[in-house]
This record gives sequence, C-alpha cells and structure tokens, in this order.
Amino acid sequence: MKALIATGDPAAAVEFADVAEPAADPTEVVVEVDAFSVNRGEIFALDGTYGAPAERGWLPGQDIAGRVVRAAADGSGPTVGQRVVGHPDAGGWAERVAVPVSRLGVLPDGVSAVDAATLPLAGLTALRLLREAGPVVGRRILLTGASGGVGHFVTELATQSGAEVTAVTASPQRGQQLAALGAAQVVQDLGDASGQFDIVLESVGGETFTAALSRLAPGGTVLWFGQASLTPVTLSFFDLLAVTPVTVKHFPHWISTTSDGEDLGRLVRLVASGRLHPEIGRTADWTETATVLDDLAHRRIRGNAVLTVTAR
Ligand SMILES: NC(=O)c1ccc[n+]([C@@H]2O[C@H](COP(=O)([O-])OP(=O)(O)OC[C@H]3O[C@@H](n4cnc5c(N)ncnc54)[C@H](OP(=O)(O)O)[C@@H]3O)[C@@H](O)[C@H]2O)c1
Repeated sequence: MKALIATGDPAAAVEFADVAEPAADPTEVVVEVDAFSVNRGEIFALDGTYGAPAERGWLPGQDIAGRVVRAAADGSGPTVGQRVVGHPDAGGWAERVAVPVSRLGVLPDGVSAVDAATLPLAGLTALRLLREAGPVVGRRILLTGASGGVGHFVTELATQSGAEVTAVTASPQRGQQLAALGAAQVVQDLGDASGQFDIVLESVGGETFTAALSRLAPGGTVLWFGQASLTPVTLSFFDLLAVTPVTVKHFPHWISTTSDGEDLGRLVRLVASGRLHPEIGRTADWTETATVLDDLAHRRIRGNAVLTVTAR
C-alpha cells in the first residue's frame, strides 16, 4: 500500500513509499483511511525538535478517520464497514492503518471524515486540558497559542462550560473564529488582556510564558502544554511573589483516566449535536502533505489541517 514515510531529512521530511500492509494484533482493527490531520508534534518529530529527526521509514500519523476493513480478531470493537475516528500511535498517513479498539470512536452519518480527523490529538488535548483545569464555570481563562487546532476546541468547550476565555493570537484574522466561538476577548498582545486569570493554558513558551504567568490571580494554575516558539522558559522566583501561591503543571494529553476511545466518543457526540465545530483552516489532497506541514509550521493555517486520502 501507499504511505507517507519519514525521509530522515528535515528539509524534505516526508515522501510516498510502498510499504507493507499494517499488521494488526488481535485487539486492533484495520482502517482504510479517508482523511488524516497533521499536528505540530509530528512536525517536531520529523524535524528533530525532540532530539533527532525521525529515522527514514518511520510512519507518522496519529489522527485518522475512515472505514473498518478488518475487524479485531478478538471480536471486540466495530465491524467491517463501520466508519470510525482513531488515534493510533503512528502510521496514519497511509492508505490503511491498524488502530487499537480502545482508541477508536464510531462515527454517525452526520459527522464527515474530514471533521472527525481533527478530533484525536487536538480534541483529546482540549478536552483533557479542561478536565485537568477543574470546574471552569465563572472562571477566567487565558489561552496562548490560541489560533491552532487545540485553541479552537478549548475555546468552544470552555465557553460552553461557563468560562470567560481570553485568547492570544498573532493577528485579528487568526482570532476571528475564536470570538465567534465565544471568546470574551481576543488580543494580539498580552498587555491588552484585561484583569487577572484563574487559569492560564500556555503552549508558546519563552517570554509569552513569563508574561502569561504574571497575569495569574493569586492561587491560580498554569497548565503548561507546549512550546510552539521552541524558546525555553526563564522564571524568577521573586517575580512570582506578587501572585503566589501559584501552581504550574506540565500537561501531557496521553495521561488520562479515560480511554482515547471513550473521549473520542464524547467529542464525536458533541460534533454530531452541533455543540463542537472543528475549525479547519486547510483541506487538501494528501499529495500536498509536505506543503501543508510547512504552512502549519509557519503559522499560515488557522485551526486544523486535514489531508484527504485518494488513490495514487
Ligand atoms: N501536551 C500535549 O499533550 C500536547 C498535545 C497536543 C498539542 N500540544 C501542543 O499544544 C500547542 C497547540 O497545539 P495545536 O495543535 O493547536 O498547534 P498549532 O495548530 O500548530 O497551533 C499553535 C499556535 O501557537 C501559536 N504560536 C505562537 N508563537 C508561535 C511560534 N513562535 N511558532 C509557532 N507557533 C506559534 C500560533 O498561533 P499564532 O500564529 O496566532 O500566534 C499557532 O497557531 C502546540 O505547541 C502543540 O505542540 C501539546
């Protein structure tokens, strides 16, 4: 089958190759992929941000939607022909991929593969960030790096839950849909954000982290979930005396008491009932994946980017 593989060269990070059909273990289904979304984390894996560039032949891809073509051998999970969304560890930028039953959600007719493909990494991260934040009704949330896939989901879920969200984006255009989804304020400069915040959701790093932290209300919490700028954070103990005591939590979306399948089911139901709206800044054929990755890396895409898988 055809798949996109890592080249090992960050300058041309992926290319098409003929690879073996996925080998599913008894608790996995094989899905024919209709659409996948791409994420900043996959860009980091390919370009070496996590240490070294992914080795040639690695199969990226964690966010897929498609149709089951082989059911799990142990009899669990969806049957052949059912439409699903899934969150495999890798291998999703391909014609077919094996996905554990525990990491799948079944799609109703009303949810398209393109919409569903946005849900795994960005949707699970948003849902679990807010779960980690605790009750948000009536609380003020500051969200940095808000114009990406995670930011749009966080904003809609949080405002529906009664939070007052202030979003930080590079331009008004990149914040337009966040305002439509309910953000109380969208700013380009943190200095323009009004008041103090109970919760800061921070994923940019560098000076943005420090500036956001200084806007916490005493007793507030920072959930630190990314470093899109690639700039490490510098903190001074003394600067925090004005807002102490604060809590800084390092947040990984994959540590969860609920399974990916359960949470994907919740996200799918929210989309199906019109309460969650994936913001898809780019949809393209998967032959354009390299261009889309470059555009995502350079902040030229608002929300999620989705690639559709066609015969090659
Ligand atoms: N901890 C976890 O488990 C987890 C899971 C998923 C994602 N993440 C991280 O969470 C963040 C958001 O994810 P996402 O999928 O929404 O990412 P995304 O679509 O790439 O959005 C990231 C946003 O960060 C902003 N940004 C600010 N400064 C930037 C810079 N110097 N370079 C690049 N972007 C910059 C950009 O918004 P503007 O251009 O409007 O400023 C961009 O839209 C990312 O950092 C990602 O790596 C973490």
